[in-house]
Amino acid sequence: MRLLFATGNEDKVREAREILEPKGVKVEHLEIDYPEPQVDDLETVAREGVRYVFRKTGEPVFVEDSGLFVDALNGFPGPYSAYVHGTLGNGGLLKLMEGIRDRRATFRSVVAFCDGPGVSVHVGEVEGEIAGERRGTAGFGYDPVFIPEGTGSTFAEDPEGKSAVSHRRRALDSFAEWMGPSRA
Ligand code: IMP
Repeated sequence: MRLLFATGNEDKVREAREILEPKGVKVEHLEIDYPEPQVDDLETVAREGVRYVFRKTGEPVFVEDSGLFVDALNGFPGPYSAYVHGTLGNGGLLKLMEGIRDRRATFRSVVAFCDGPGVSVHVGEVEGEIAGERRGTAGFGYDPVFIPEGTGSTFAEDPEGKSAVSHRRRALDSFAEWMGPSRA
């Protein structure tokens, strides 16, 4: 089965291929911008985005929206993760966390799929903590500062570990399970 993944992020496409292709789903990158409503939940952004793209293409398509929710910052940057990464970067996040002992954070991924009037949504989360400094060179975005629970390495230091436990892995596994062998 072949599925379109609408995103401007090549790294997300690479990760989605690593996760879905062994399950027999061929991921095709559709580079298209979709409007992101200024709301504070990832699910609404993903639902509205995938409806918009489906109206344009008429083909089965999925989108993915992610966010990093830091406990000590009351969930910030959450739905604003892309904006904060683009403006403050990892250095800015580390600065905000200076002197804060509670480093717990959750990465959340929402995958929304549309092949007709309905939209199906699949959520994946991984808990972890914000590192004291940037570590590692693999990956993208917040990977150098996010340490998943149970490991001492950031996503950027351990890309295989990331692929096994990430928020995206969990959301896409749930999506693939929902599609089932007959759809996939
Ligand atoms: P969006 O889903 O593209 O809106 O991503 C939100 C922000 O989180 C962007 O700054 C991404 O770079 C970052 N991000 C999304 N997924 C990951 C990931 O797997 N690792 C690190 N950063 C990520």
